[in-house]
Amino acid sequence: MTVEVTLSIIKPDAVHKNYIGEIISRFEKDGLRVAALKMLVFSRQQFLGIYGGHEGRPYFEDLTAFMASGPSVVMVLESEQAVARNRAIMGHTNPKLAAPGTIRADLGTATNRNAVHGSDSTETAQREIACLFSSEEIRTLGG
Ligand code: TYD
Ligand code: MG
Repeated sequence: MTVEVTLSIIKPDAVHKNYIGEIISRFEKDGLRVAALKMLVFSRQQFLGIYGGHEGRPYFEDLTAFMASGPSVVMVLESEQAVARNRAIMGHTNPKLAAPGTIRADLGTATNRNAVHGSDSTETAQREIACLFSSEEIRTLGG
């Protein structure tokens, strides 16, 4: 099976609540490796790179303000089927519909304060990772 990479974001609500270690620990326990990591406050350009496709949606202004409201932790995660594995560990977009034991069920509070982001496909992952990381910043097991 092929090893994939995916983008994970620990969003400002979870960073503010001191959940960085808790969230990374959940990924590591489920077999995802951290291949790159940094803390940043999203610039407008970085934000649009990840969420530009949602422009025009009713929640877009709230999402824009929220993602600029404080620091996020952005990571490249690596494993077999990393995209699907990350999404499974995260749970449903709406924490109230997320399965118990998922990050969003346990640490999120609402759809617009749901603690984490994960890429939705390998193609999206490549694009999102390129928005936030240079190739020198990424240390996958493969090199
Ligand atoms: P989406 O890509 O649909 O969900 P996911 O994060 O699970 O891939 O939406 C991106 C983010 O936009 C979502 O994490 C939170 C925000 N959002 C809202 O605030 N309200 C909404 O009704 C939706 C659909 C998303
Ligand atoms: Mg999405």
